[in-house]
Amino acid sequence: MTATTDLETLERDLLARVAAANDEAALEALRVEALGKQGSISALMKNLGSMSPEERKEFGPKLNGLKDRVTEAIVVKKAALAEAALDAQLKAEAVDVTLPPVKPRLGTIHPVSQVMEELAQIFGEMGFSVEEGPDIESDFNNFTALNFPPKHPARETHDTFFMDAKDERGERKVLRTHTSPVQVRTMLKQKPPIRMICMGRTFRKDSDATHTPMFHQIEGLVIDETSTMADLKSVLIAAIKAYFEVDDVKLRFRPHHFPFTEPSAEVDVGCDRSGGQIKIGAGDDWLEILGSGMVHPNVLANCGIDPEKYQGYAFGMGIDRLAMLKYGMNDLRAFFDADTRWLKHYGFSPYLLPGLAQGLG
Ligand code: PHE
Repeated sequence: MTATTDLETLERDLLARVAAANDEAALEALRVEALGKQGSISALMKNLGSMSPEERKEFGPKLNGLKDRVTEAIVVKKAALAEAALDAQLKAEAVDVTLPPVKPRLGTIHPVSQVMEELAQIFGEMGFSVEEGPDIESDFNNFTALNFPPKHPARETHDTFFMDAKDERGERKVLRTHTSPVQVRTMLKQKPPIRMICMGRTFRKDSDATHTPMFHQIEGLVIDETSTMADLKSVLIAAIKAYFEVDDVKLRFRPHHFPFTEPSAEVDVGCDRSGGQIKIGAGDDWLEILGSGMVHPNVLANCGIDPEKYQGYAFGMGIDRLAMLKYGMNDLRAFFDADTRWLKHYGFSPYLLPGLAQGLG
């Protein structure tokens, strides 16, 4: 039957053209041509009306089938073209991720911070807590409570920066000249037993290759009913060995005077200077590294602790000095120049925190 053959030809032709349409405009033109008001399929639909009932019965379903399949093919093709267009657009607009990235600049840990971390580890292992105090102190905490008599020349040896501001006693405030006022603060707020260290900034009018107006100290204080100079010595030996990572060190206690300790001793550590560099834990030379002694009964009394019942020891060391000795810097001023080249050379990885188990430095 010709009408049916024509329908099959028309369908094949339309489907082939749908498949071949390569953009949405061409597909739309094809849709109008076939299914629009004047379209070829619409024209055939209109023809149905003039057919005999038998013809219509046979031809109608075939024509409807053709219309459905062509419509469906156009819908499917349209979706495929839209997807392809989107793909092409995404490809065209893609960011070139192969550009070289800007390298982040990784900072380093300053040797002073590193050494403080190491010392906190070492003394932490020995049961010391870490206390803190402010850089600006009262005259009482920095001097008077520590048994410096008023107007006494010992105050002068500290080259103190006095401030115009007054404290609650009407005395000039000071930039603390040592970390010892943190002993006072701790004893005033805490009952014995006390076993603490404190680390931080200290200030004195002084400036050359081994002195800067701002420097760092570590302070240690132990107060209980039994601690003696022998305990002081054993703690210091253990700490110095751990810090310098040497198996053997010699310490020499030299009599000295501090207003806040009695007896007082300066402590020298055995070293070797023959190689141009100071080597701790070898040789026959001595290097002074800290001040120490048994806390003076007047200091205990000034801080509300009964000197008849309690006793203990204290020690103080320069942290910057410890860093220079361990890590081989020879000019202290460079510590505070904030020169990133120096920091890159002497600084420590921020990813490696010191710990006794893996070695400190
Ligand atoms: N505070 C002393 C100083 O800076 C050091 C020290 C501390 C001495 C504790 C003895 C006991 O010189």
